[in-house]
Amino acid sequence: MPRGFLPSILMGLMLLKDQVALITGSGRGIGRAIAHLFAKEGAAVFLTARTKEQLDSTTAEIFKGGGRAGYLAADLSREADCAQAVAAAREKFGRIDILVNNAGHYGPVVPVEDYPLADFDKVLAVHLRAAFVLSKLVLPEMYARQSGVILNISSLSAKAAYAWGSAYAAAKAGMLGLTRVTAAEGARKGVRVNAICPGPVTETQMSKDLGTLLAKKMGVNQDEQLAGFLNGLLQGRAQTAQEIARAVLFLCSGQSSAMTGQSINVDGGAAFY
Ligand SMILES: NC(=O)c1ccc[n+]([C@@H]2O[C@H](COP(=O)([O-])OP(=O)(O)OC[C@H]3O[C@@H](n4cnc5c(N)ncnc54)[C@H](OP(=O)(O)O)[C@@H]3O)[C@@H](O)[C@H]2O)c1
Repeated sequence: MPRGFLPSILMGLMLLKDQVALITGSGRGIGRAIAHLFAKEGAAVFLTARTKEQLDSTTAEIFKGGGRAGYLAADLSREADCAQAVAAAREKFGRIDILVNNAGHYGPVVPVEDYPLADFDKVLAVHLRAAFVLSKLVLPEMYARQSGVILNISSLSAKAAYAWGSAYAAAKAGMLGLTRVTAAEGARKGVRVNAICPGPVTETQMSKDLGTLLAKKMGVNQDEQLAGFLNGLLQGRAQTAQEIARAVLFLCSGQSSAMTGQSINVDGGAAFY
């Protein structure tokens, strides 16, 4: 077999070969898993989040695996930082073919009547407003090329009813509305827009912090709180960041070419619409 023949066959099988993806919230957790998988599938990945050290180590891991990556530390609750992230991704890789809106935090774990307005605004700003601002920034380029994909990371919280996370649930439900409208506008211009609704991905910092707060509030230990929650899912187990990343890859690749405006539940069987 000629030298280099096998690698070139494998490269031909890559789902995102020569694509450029901007992935938000990619220093750790689900975003990091998406960045790794996309890079393995041939994409150049541009990472953004606030914590420089995590972006640095994730890009270093990607380089080590032979992938292409760049990053900018940015607070996406600010419009100017969103613009800087898009500009930096374009400067590094020349274009943006895929936008994954994943960044966010849960916010306070309190009932509506106690929820501080400033925290409500902040949670909406990071999840919903940033997804809107970043979509606004990348769509003209995608329309000009008649090609592009936007993937919004929503949540089971958008479809179920859990107490003490009003801003989070409102932001995630808002992202589903944004997904459908952007899909309607982009469908005849070559752009697909979909959302993923993950269930509990218990390995991530956000999930662990939330579990600690919920257990404390419920007056049970963390294992009991988690077991009670997982028992409500058909599969009775958590999802992994890798499982979420694989669904994201599917929706961002040509494998899902006829899918747009959808929200796909990756929750072990919890929401059924
Ligand atoms: N884990 C779950 O069970 C679960 C379930 C459903 C949906 N989700 C969603 O999945 C996404 C990822 O969450 P995760 O579980 O992977 O949590 P995570 O490990 O805490 O990761 C969140 C990422 O978002 C970044 N981020 C947070 N606020 C930001 C801001 N203002 N500007 C820029 N980046 C920001 C964080 O980095 P910095 O803090 O360094 O900025 C981090 O990289 C979130 O949208 C979350 O709502 C998670």
